[in-house]
Amino acid sequence: MIETKAPVHSERFSVNKTTESRLSNIDYNNLRFGDVFADHMFELRYANGKWDEGRVLPYGPIQVMPSSNILHYGQGAFEGMKAFTAKDGNIHIFRIPEHYQRFNNSCKRMNIPSVPYDVFHDAIVQLVDLDRNWVPKDELKSLYLRPFIFATEEFLGLKTSTTYRFMVITGPVGNYYREGINPVKLTTMPDYVRAVKGGVGNAKVPGNYAASLYPAHQAMQQGYAQVLWLDALERKYIEEVGAMNIFFVIDDTIITSELTGTILPGITRKTVLELTRHWGLNVEERLISIDELIKANKEGRLTEAFGSGTAAVISPVGLIHHKGETITLDQERMGPVAERLYNTITGIHHGRIEDEFGWCTVV
Ligand code: PLP
Ligand code: COI
Repeated sequence: MIETKAPVHSERFSVNKTTESRLSNIDYNNLRFGDVFADHMFELRYANGKWDEGRVLPYGPIQVMPSSNILHYGQGAFEGMKAFTAKDGNIHIFRIPEHYQRFNNSCKRMNIPSVPYDVFHDAIVQLVDLDRNWVPKDELKSLYLRPFIFATEEFLGLKTSTTYRFMVITGPVGNYYREGINPVKLTTMPDYVRAVKGGVGNAKVPGNYAASLYPAHQAMQQGYAQVLWLDALERKYIEEVGAMNIFFVIDDTIITSELTGTILPGITRKTVLELTRHWGLNVEERLISIDELIKANKEGRLTEAFGSGTAAVISPVGLIHHKGETITLDQERMGPVAERLYNTITGIHHGRIEDEFGWCTVV
């Protein structure tokens, strides 16, 4: 018998309810990632050194001035989280405190005032509760939550904005990759870099993603799902993938790139490390070069590669290309470590497996 926490609710913020729900128009059998949005959104405004009281509104267009800082200099940050329908009918939101912590770090790096934890938490809980009928029931789907913040001051000089908007939008999603949970193909792009030490690689901010689009487009045209980024200095050490962190299994040891300041500290990465250490497996966070990986593969010691991310969950990697060399792994299915992680993490999401670490907020 799995013990569940008592559900939390919030009615802290005023609600302007939509007059016409769009829910019945949504084809839940053919959900992709990120193109459908639930009925409501949350908004909180910052001016004169303080946040206002916040409100829930119908999802829809917003007004910003064309001179807003975010549109020119990109002063903003965002998060990606998920809510799931659990076996008992409650809704589980995964790891709110960890996502808040990273959001706060991203804001700090962008010189954006911090949103109080209780506001972030209560806004998400109230929004998910209000649109709870939008949370897919199907185990392979979820409600994606996107908290984001942006600078709104009307001023074209380069300086920190004095006004901001924090918002949360949500939407039901299916698999992130076209491949579903089948292995994806990656390629390095040694002519491009994602982040440098001292930059903003470890913050979840718009510019990192904008700068990745051109190389990612080229990778896609060559038949790869995403870019496997190498470090900017030596173009040698493996960092992460476009929308996920990366893990390898070599000689029964699970290896992931250490957080050098240029990699996004993934919440799913943290979850994978905590679970595998809890299971007593050998785990290493260290520098790993693409040459070491190619060598391990040639020697038959590389048995698995997989990515971790909120959108991607656990995604097996079936092939990695680097400068004419190709590492080919199982193209058909997940390896045993990835599969155990996938089953455990999705089991906790959906309340099939006890949440012994207290990762889920029950709504
Ligand atoms: N790395 C990048 C660049 C990402 O965009 C993401 C997704 O958020 C991740 C890694 C994985 O992070 P998380 O597990 O917190 O979603
Ligand atoms: C997530 O996994 O939540 C992300 O933010 C990745 C994004 C590029 C979809």
